[in-house]
Amino acid sequence: MMKVGVLISGRGSNLRSLVAATKEPGFPAAIVIVVSNKPDAPGLDVARAAGIPTAVVNHKDYPTREAFDAELDAVLCRAGVELICSAGFMRILSEGFVEAWRDRQLNIHPSLLPAFKGLHVHERVLETGCRITGCTVHFVRPAMDEGPIVAQVAVPVVPGDTPETLADRVLEAEHKLYPLALRLVAEGRTRIVGERVEIDGLPLEAQAPLFVPPVS
Ligand code: GRF
Repeated sequence: MMKVGVLISGRGSNLRSLVAATKEPGFPAAIVIVVSNKPDAPGLDVARAAGIPTAVVNHKDYPTREAFDAELDAVLCRAGVELICSAGFMRILSEGFVEAWRDRQLNIHPSLLPAFKGLHVHERVLETGCRITGCTVHFVRPAMDEGPIVAQVAVPVVPGDTPETLADRVLEAEHKLYPLALRLVAEGRTRIVGERVEIDGLPLEAQAPLFVPPVS
């Protein structure tokens, strides 16, 4: 059973999907702690309701990024965390922290990386006129939203979409994708070769992006 620490800053809907998945019998990972950098993050209640220990490491209490990261690292290590899942965690982590957790930290991003890194993704997707967007789970590297891709889901952009309708559709896909990606990593089926992820025991066809139909 792989021990997972989830990092959040907000709503925690991805956390909710990970909690649900990890409670399924036979799931190869368990969430041992949820850490927020914001004391009032609604996601903390998701963890509490599920009986999962929580911690707040408020970035405002630390003079430097390194001091914040050192405390975050200490909290995760004390909880016995083996793999970090960032789920809407809105702090940039120092290179030292990221390297210490190299290949042991996942992130979810609401675009088909390497396109549309950063913030305001759905606005930019619409401005660009993309017909397809999606979401990505990847191993974390020091550069924001970069790192070996574990899994992706493609999501169509439909006429009349606003950033909000598109975000909702992509979020639905995120909630399917993150548990799937965590399962693959926790089962030890992912191997990082160069900066690509290879997945053991999955036929190539099954590694193609899933297609989530438009919500009517
Ligand atoms: C998600 O869209 C995630 O991809 C991005 O931030 C959002 C977090 O939402 N990194 P939630 O807090 O999981 O509901």
